[in-house]
Amino acid sequence: MFFHYLLLFLALPYCSSADTITPNQPIRDGDVLVSPAASFALGFFSPGNSTLRYVGLWFNNVSEKTVVWVLNRDLPINDTSGVLSVSSTGNLVLYHRHTPIWSTNVSILSVNATVAQLLDTGNLVLFERESRRVLWQGFDYPTDTMLPNMKLGVDRRTGLNRFLSSWKSPEDPGTGDYSFKIDVNGSPQFFLCKGTDRLWRTGPWNGLRWSGVPEMINTFIFHINFLNTPDEASVIYTLHNSSFFSRLMVDGSGHVQRKTWHESGHQWMGFWSAPKDDCDNYGRCGPYGSCNANSAPNFECTCLPGFQPKSPSDWYLRDGSAGCVRKAGAKLCGSGEGFVKVRSVKIPDTSEARVEMSMGMEACREECLRNCNCSGYTSANVSGGESGCVSWHGVLMDTRDYTEGGQDLFVRVDAAVLAENTERPKGILQKKWLLAILVIVGAVLLFFIVSLACRFIRKKRKDKARQRGLEISFISSSSLFQGSPAAKKHDESRRNSELQFFDLGTIAAATRNFSFANKLGQGGFGPVYKGQLPSGQEIAVKRLSSTSRQGTEEFKNEVSLIAKLQHRNLVRLLGCCIEGGEKMLIYEYLPNKSLDFCIFDETKRSLLDWKKRFEIILGIARGILYLHQDSRLRIIHRDLKASNVLLDAEMNAKISDFGMARIFGGDQIEGNTSRVVGTYGYMSPEYAMEGQFSIKSDVYSFGILLLEIITGRKNSTYYEDNSSQNLVGHVWKLWREDRALDVIDPSMEKTYPADEVLRCIQIGLLCVQECATDRPTMLTIIFMLGNNSTLPSPQQPAFVIKTTSSQGVSSVNEVTVSMVEAR
Ligand SMILES: *[C@@H]1O[C@H](CO)[C@@H](O)[C@H](O)[C@H]1NC(C)=O
Ligand SMILES: *[C@@H]1O[C@H](CO)[C@@H](O)[C@H](O)[C@H]1NC(C)=O
Ligand SMILES: *[C@@H]1O[C@H](CO)[C@@H](O)[C@H](O)[C@H]1NC(C)=O
Ligand SMILES: *[C@@H]1O[C@H](CO)[C@@H](O)[C@H](O)[C@H]1NC(C)=O
Ligand SMILES: *[C@@H]1O[C@H](CO)[C@@H](O)[C@H](O)[C@H]1NC(C)=O
Ligand SMILES: *[C@@H]1O[C@H](CO)[C@@H](O)[C@H](O)[C@H]1NC(C)=O
Ligand SMILES: *[C@@H]1O[C@H](CO)[C@@H](O)[C@H](O)[C@H]1NC(C)=O
Ligand SMILES: *[C@@H]1O[C@H](CO)[C@@H](O)[C@H](O)[C@H]1NC(C)=O
Repeated sequence: MFFHYLLLFLALPYCSSADTITPNQPIRDGDVLVSPAASFALGFFSPGNSTLRYVGLWFNNVSEKTVVWVLNRDLPINDTSGVLSVSSTGNLVLYHRHTPIWSTNVSILSVNATVAQLLDTGNLVLFERESRRVLWQGFDYPTDTMLPNMKLGVDRRTGLNRFLSSWKSPEDPGTGDYSFKIDVNGSPQFFLCKGTDRLWRTGPWNGLRWSGVPEMINTFIFHINFLNTPDEASVIYTLHNSSFFSRLMVDGSGHVQRKTWHESGHQWMGFWSAPKDDCDNYGRCGPYGSCNANSAPNFECTCLPGFQPKSPSDWYLRDGSAGCVRKAGAKLCGSGEGFVKVRSVKIPDTSEARVEMSMGMEACREECLRNCNCSGYTSANVSGGESGCVSWHGVLMDTRDYTEGGQDLFVRVDAAVLAENTERPKGILQKKWLLAILVIVGAVLLFFIVSLACRFIRKKRKDKARQRGLEISFISSSSLFQGSPAAKKHDESRRNSELQFFDLGTIAAATRNFSFANKLGQGGFGPVYKGQLPSGQEIAVKRLSSTSRQGTEEFKNEVSLIAKLQHRNLVRLLGCCIEGGEKMLIYEYLPNKSLDFCIFDETKRSLLDWKKRFEIILGIARGILYLHQDSRLRIIHRDLKASNVLLDAEMNAKISDFGMARIFGGDQIEGNTSRVVGTYGYMSPEYAMEGQFSIKSDVYSFGILLLEIITGRKNSTYYEDNSSQNLVGHVWKLWREDRALDVIDPSMEKTYPADEVLRCIQIGLLCVQECATDRPTMLTIIFMLGNNSTLPSPQQPAFVIKTTSSQGVSSVNEVTVSMVEAR
């Protein structure tokens, strides 16, 4: 034992920082191997409180030690006697007490000619000194993390399959239960599995993106390259700028996550993760089912056209796993069958699908129609138009729909279903004669059929009268089942598990009978009161004005859904109170009021230094991202503004009034509305003028908010002297003149890093661009806020020039406009 301590002691002063391992230059416990440009480091480590030693690889320049690769994950060493060296056979070998416990095991002809090196990509390679031929590389044996430039997938020539698997626990890097692995059958897809159970799939690569990851496309940040050749099926992603850090990992809770290092916050930030909602769970709605995450509060499963639930009772109890079956009597072979288009979906599991990359869509359709076993088809490549053919000859499994970024699926149906689903073709109108003849023939036929049918029915009715008693009793027994107390209870408890109902008496007592002294403010949806429950908990009560169009049941549903949205940058909804025509929402109480009290107040805003302001900006961005992307409801806030951002005791930003659009009856996710809810000055042009809203309208409002936080000025009331500009116009003007620093709130007194603030201004300008498609998504914004990546140049923002109408509007700025009829 003494010997080993001595060894360690001796090793320390000689702490090696070379980038190569040779027989004469091994790595002992305590040494660190650093890549040439100091991107990565390799050495012995112990995770968490564990005392076991592992050889690991971590980012050299990330202040939180983040191990991304482990050489001996399942072969830990119980003391500090480990040595990693190149052996006499030329292999890289890990020794414990001079006994080899791990080896690269490659057969090497010329001994003494190999060397191991840690590269700047994070790859540990063993190569021949002379030819530089790679004999073994760490990238071929990933642990739980995929780094940029690392390949994941199968080498079809050697059979090598590179995949990720989770750590057992934060203290044990051993091979855990969760894996993320390619399945090359059919059209290749990656699966997240627990053991052999499939939890989630990416869907196949469709030329632009994974069918099941619509939000992850090539941007100016990443480039994703998927290769499917006779030699290999693999994916690799590269960063356009290698000066920031990003990783994809499988965590111990069964999620695939992409994280980026947030330089100014000194922490890893979740950038994307999956599975993110119930519909992502593999086979949630069974064979031939389709999952719709936005159907809440209704059941998320529906059947594809021409199918019906296999087990209606399970379906009623909200268990869709049994899926759907073809409606009885469907004739699908040479009887006028065809295809119904199901729009914007994650296409079904392609493990058993047939793929023809060279086939066109028309040929694909014909081929599928001809083969009676073909149940559906879609295009294999949506990049640059649709081409290629994916067709299924068995079940259609794990379909879900998307509001954005999905792909059209064509499902085989019989003539009857086809007729129900087909729009009348327009071209036929030109052939007036044909049409006229058809109409006449049709009318005559119809007349005959109807009169025949009437006679038949009249006759039948008499016969049937006797049987009727039986029929009625059948109907009532089935409706009894539907409303059975057990089923109802199940449903009810499921829905209301997290929502608290308060009675009016409690709330009245808590707010001292809604006394004026307790009134905190007047929001767009009604007054807000402060209250204190008997337990001592402080609450904020929003008394909704009676314009809510919803009935009580609908209201309850909405509120219980919104109560489930929980994020540290959202105000927590505790419950509601519905009594005697009153509808109230009960929130947690936040002592620091709303952001507008701080940033637009001469004295208070000097207390907000840049660091604090940046954290507020980031908090708001995270809250919106959660609403847009991660929550199962996909909420567009539609009324983001400074007075809707509250601050808690630590000055963390919390978004309030989210989901109000749902409560007030605008439950579409994206679309066109005649009811514009929002606040002038924060509304995007397409929303204010045409009633078109999307997640990009929220991005616009966020941009305004960001500029307001930096400048300490309100957008809609800010005009520079006599010029015709509002705040956005002013910032834009100075930005173009390279004087953007002039807009910064003078009360920050140069305590800020100029480049960081300039960056934020640029991001703000990117958010308020006129054209909605030019604006970045919240995901990109968070990335841009956290990293020093190069930013695109902003285009001309919307509403730069003060028009007469916007001038008139500025006077009502603070009040949410909830009843504007646009168009
Ligand atoms: C990492 O940091 C070191 C100094 O701490 C620096 O020399 C090196 O260039 C950095 N490497 C990268 C890839 O940023
Ligand atoms: C390590 O041990 C300390 C004290 O026993 C404990 O508080 C801490 O949570 C442990 N850390 C981990 C990662 O388990
Ligand atoms: C460490 O492992 C070695 C060999 O695996 C074993 O002989 C030894 O008893 C272990 N020591 C401790 C303290 O567990
Ligand atoms: C190397 O070979 C030995 C013996 O065949 C085997 O036990 C060990 O798992 C192999 N190591 C690796 C890294 O493949
Ligand atoms: C390998 O290198 C060592 C030291 O450099 C030398 O003593 C030995 O003879 C070499 N062996 C071969 C087979 O070249
Ligand atoms: C359709 O499927 C049946 C049963 O699986 C099989 O026997 C038949 O050959 C298939 N027909 C075609 C054209 O593939
Ligand atoms: C997909 O289509 C585009 C445009 O036609 C083409 O450039 C690309 O090579 C196709 N991809 C595959 C994998 O065939
Ligand atoms: C990468 O980012 C750094 C830091 O922001 C920047 O200096 C550099 O120019 C960028 N490189 C490229 C190729 O965009």
